Amino acid sequence: MQTGNSALIQLIRSEIENYGPQSFAWFMQQALYHPEHGYYSSGRCSIGRKGDYFTNVSVGPLFGQLLASQFSEIWERLGKMNDFVIVEQGAHDGQFARDVLEFGEKRLPEFFDALRYRILEPFPILEEQQRRRLEAFGDKVEWRESPEPFTGVHFSNELLDAMPVRLIRGGMEKLVALNGDRFVFVERPVDKTMFNHAALECVDQIAANLQRGYVIAIDYGFLDEEFERTVEVRARHRNLDSPFEQIGDADITMSVHWRSIVERAQANGLRIAGFTDQHHFLTGIISTWPDLVCSSSPPNIERKTKRALQTLLHPEMLGRAFQVLALAKDVDRGTPRLAGFKFSRGAQNLA
Ligand SMILES: C[S@@+](CC[C@H](N)C(=O)[O-])C[C@H]1O[C@@H](n2cnc3c(N)ncnc32)[C@H](O)[C@@H]1O
Repeated sequence: MQTGNSALIQLIRSEIENYGPQSFAWFMQQALYHPEHGYYSSGRCSIGRKGDYFTNVSVGPLFGQLLASQFSEIWERLGKMNDFVIVEQGAHDGQFARDVLEFGEKRLPEFFDALRYRILEPFPILEEQQRRRLEAFGDKVEWRESPEPFTGVHFSNELLDAMPVRLIRGGMEKLVALNGDRFVFVERPVDKTMFNHAALECVDQIAANLQRGYVIAIDYGFLDEEFERTVEVRARHRNLDSPFEQIGDADITMSVHWRSIVERAQANGLRIAGFTDQHHFLTGIISTWPDLVCSSSPPNIERKTKRALQTLLHPEMLGRAFQVLALAKDVDRGTPRLAGFKFSRGAQNLA
């Protein structure tokens, strides 16, 4: 069934009628990011129990609290500088930023005083939501449409998997075509192999602007051997059979090909500072600051924290599905591993 936003469907149809079959990357760009009708850019996307899917952030504030602790360790490593910048890309409704800032203000005041929180947001409707959610933090938070130089940390959760991809395999590319008024895939020979151009360009931009510090990217993907180029489409907590269902009303993702991300980062002068799964990453953070989860909070909060912890860590839930990559620039090689990579065994597979 071909369903979804009718204006968007019409627009995609006319493009194919006028110019012939289009790459899947172009189709995905329209479905998710068309300025007026895209799933994200229109503000239609909703994350969490009542939305289309869960993320680490929608599990509760614990994820942001654990990451805030990791960011404060980075700030210490960089010499407790003033003007330490946390750049978040893919901040969605600003919930992660709020979790980090609330925790920082309450529990890490010296770090909080030194930091600025910068959100890289191309979509005005999402920026509006973020501004509302982060109003209490005044000018501690700033917005940019495009990156600019910073020292600190660049953070993203499920950003790279949401970037448009071409469907190239074995010298053939799947393009989006029309059969009557239905969208179908057709295959054409192609001499290119690069399928994740947008994600690699994003790495270029981050590397070009990070003066000194770290990049932490959390996402689900594969190193490469077992990499499956499968597109996932999700709406209302259901996986749909085809990207041509609920066009503009559903999320489309492809798992991240970590090796190509790392190679591109290295070519841009970054080095690997750690690679592991989320289970080991968060366990490393908790073991460094155990009171993050063993608090003297009221019982109802403690119950919620325990449930969130289980969801984030359990290998059958989010613990194994997600990986964490840390990259460093101009940080002394002799610096000990970040807390999140204390128990990591993954980085040597990337070397
Ligand atoms: C899967 S959602 C993840 C949202 C949030 N990080 C979370 O974990 O709940 C992907 C987000 O990335 C955003 N995004 C995609 N491309 C982007 C880009 N080039 N710059 C900034 N945000 C982008 C989308 O608008 C969307 O909000």
